[in-house]
Amino acid sequence: MTTPFAAPKGIPEYTPPDSAAFAHVRDTLVGAAGRAGYGLLELPVFEDTGLYARGVGESTDVVSKEMYTFADRGERSVTLRPEGTAGVVRSVIEHGLDRAGLPVKLYYAGPFFRYERPQAGRYRQLQQVGIEAIGVDDPALDAEVIAVADEGFRALGLRGYRLELTSLGDEESRPAYRTLLTDFLSRLDLDEATRERARVNPLRVLDDKRPEVRALTADAPLLLHHLSAAAKDHHDAVKAHLDDLGVAYVENPRMVRGLDYYTKTTFEFVHDGLGAQSGIGGGGRYDGLMATLGGQPLSGVGFGIGVDRTLLACRAEGVSPWSEARVEVFGVPLGDAAKSRLVVLAGALRRAGVRVDVSYGGRGLKGAMKSADRSGARYALVLGDRDLEAGTVGVKDLVSGEQRPVALDAVVDELVSLLGG
Ligand code: HAM
Repeated sequence: MTTPFAAPKGIPEYTPPDSAAFAHVRDTLVGAAGRAGYGLLELPVFEDTGLYARGVGESTDVVSKEMYTFADRGERSVTLRPEGTAGVVRSVIEHGLDRAGLPVKLYYAGPFFRYERPQAGRYRQLQQVGIEAIGVDDPALDAEVIAVADEGFRALGLRGYRLELTSLGDEESRPAYRTLLTDFLSRLDLDEATRERARVNPLRVLDDKRPEVRALTADAPLLLHHLSAAAKDHHDAVKAHLDDLGVAYVENPRMVRGLDYYTKTTFEFVHDGLGAQSGIGGGGRYDGLMATLGGQPLSGVGFGIGVDRTLLACRAEGVSPWSEARVEVFGVPLGDAAKSRLVVLAGALRRAGVRVDVSYGGRGLKGAMKSADRSGARYALVLGDRDLEAGTVGVKDLVSGEQRPVALDAVVDELVSLLGG
């Protein structure tokens, strides 16, 4: 069959059984956030375009090239959310969440939209789980945020990733460093496009992957070595907390993030099995964002983890801690009376917490058993007229192939105990 329609380009759709893996990854990451006291914030999927222009930064690729922006029917310019932090901060200010105890700890999960060139691991609709802790400028909180991400990855069984860490300094460190770097770059023989990038954001030139630019900037001054005393103390304390927590990191003083709001602690989780799109999560502090968006001058720190890429990382490492089985038990009725009984039995099993499906549509034994296998069920319940008369049902173990009769009025308890409930 063909349909004239296709999903928009660059969007990973998750159909069963892949969707079970996707949901497991997302829920595991959310579970780590929940265990650290982050509460769900269900954000709008689109917002006023100005929020991102002001919050994320007009010179960033995300805002200048990648946003899905359109006028709604009331001629307001709205944008599909390219990231979550600006929306969280807007929501905290709008609802006065920062008037209660601090820090405000929130998590979110769902789709984000960036008009990027699609390739493996880079999508136009991407899924993130993110957390934000707003209102307390404490390096132990930075370490907690990083540890929550690390916990999430570990709970999935991932091992082949590393945490890269740096500090982007504070308002005191940055202007002086920018002058230093701009002076350095102005003495180099750079092409016009690179010069222009240096004018917009000199830091980006340090992240240039071209070998000739790398060679030219090998001796460039690095912000990490020109931090103010306060920013350096903060950075040292974050590292000490991470050491205490047993979270390993490497310093990457050339890290450049694609969003403008970062200050001080900045980090990325990088997975080696993913090729070019290796960032499975990233985040950091954004101590000016609350004030920029019209709130109290409160600090903030958080991360966004890419669920799609984390799933790819699981596949690359061959870890699959999820079950792709749609159900645990599959009912195979032979005849109408048996079907009526099995439908009732399925209801009783579902109320007991067992996942059950039944073969509908009067298929024969062979076809129904094929559906049972395809469902991933561990047990099939085979019920015919003779079983009904005897008051039993055949319980077939679909792994060993063994089948035995169990009394109909005992089969719910029997299956619950077989399935370890
Ligand atoms: P980000 O680094 O832009 O940060 O995105 C976070 C993660 O989302 C990335 O590490 C990556 O795994 C995933 N991601 C980003 N773009 C794509 C894409 N086109 N396709 C697939 N995955 C993608 C933020 O969004 C910040 N809001 C994170 C944050 C929260 N910082 C502080 N708090």
